[in-house]
Amino acid sequence: MMSKEASILRFDGVSKIFTSGLIKVSKTTAVNDVSFEIKEGEILSLVGESGSGKSTIANMILRIIKPNLGQIYINDQEIEKIPINDYYKQVQMVFQDPFSSFNYFYKVDRVLHQAVNFHYGKKISDTERTKHIHNALKLVSLNPEEVLGRYPHQLSGGQLQRFLLARILIIEPSVLIADEPTSMVDACARAEILNLLKRLRKEINISIIFITHDIGQAQFISDRVIVMENGLLVEQGPTKKVFLDPQHRYTQNLLASVPSLYRKWN
Ligand SMILES: Nc1ncnc2c1ncn2[C@@H]1O[C@H](COP(=O)(O)OP(=O)(O)OP(=O)(O)O)[C@@H](O)[C@H]1O
Ligand SMILES: [Mg+2]
Repeated sequence: MMSKEASILRFDGVSKIFTSGLIKVSKTTAVNDVSFEIKEGEILSLVGESGSGKSTIANMILRIIKPNLGQIYINDQEIEKIPINDYYKQVQMVFQDPFSSFNYFYKVDRVLHQAVNFHYGKKISDTERTKHIHNALKLVSLNPEEVLGRYPHQLSGGQLQRFLLARILIIEPSVLIADEPTSMVDACARAEILNLLKRLRKEINISIIFITHDIGQAQFISDRVIVMENGLLVEQGPTKKVFLDPQHRYTQNLLASVPSLYRKWN
């Protein structure tokens, strides 16, 4: 079904080399000649062990860092040619630590107010703004009366992460990067967040790049998987195919550390 959809984001031979040190310069090829694409409404998991280059890929998509080689396209346009404000209407992110997206000194409401202003313009009436905020909160199963007016530290990590997904519902970007969004919350909140990401895709046909160490989560959530090892893309394909019939030794090793997966599928 997914292959008929248009490609939204595309990596074409992208590399990122970090240099560090002044006297003894060392180079790390964090991402090495990587090409892939994500289609409209698709959930793509990026898996691979620590240091394999997953966050570097995310940071290049978010234009926090620039590739040394290759190009990244959104809707066939080079991303760096798009004015940054317009770009962030199309591409958004949720991070591992939900607290990092909030300013400790302001009520959480501010994040959603800013999202509404960003998407609809500042001239929107208060009634309209409240309507959008309440709708979005309800879609992520948060009770507006309960969460609005609070400070970040008065909500749980899981609640904050859901709050940030409400923000995404308001902005309606076409691509969401979720870098380990569940690793700082408990198992129950984790399942809720994964289900909400699926719901988000259904509600606004968003494409999601889901970054994780956790093969089980990738299996649960994604249509397609990309496997990274040391900056190289070693395998990609439909989730079931990659996990049931891994071709690359590295993928086979990753899977060997999750025996329960095989028990579940066989
Ligand atoms: N700003 C930087 N300067 C120098 N090296 C960096 C920088 N950012 C990342 N690296 C290196 O690039 C490689 C890839 O890092 P990256 O953060 O992309 O890995 P990751 O797959 O996200 O790992 P994790 O699962 O631990 O989050 C690592 O070797 C890392 O040390
Ligand atoms: Mg990372």
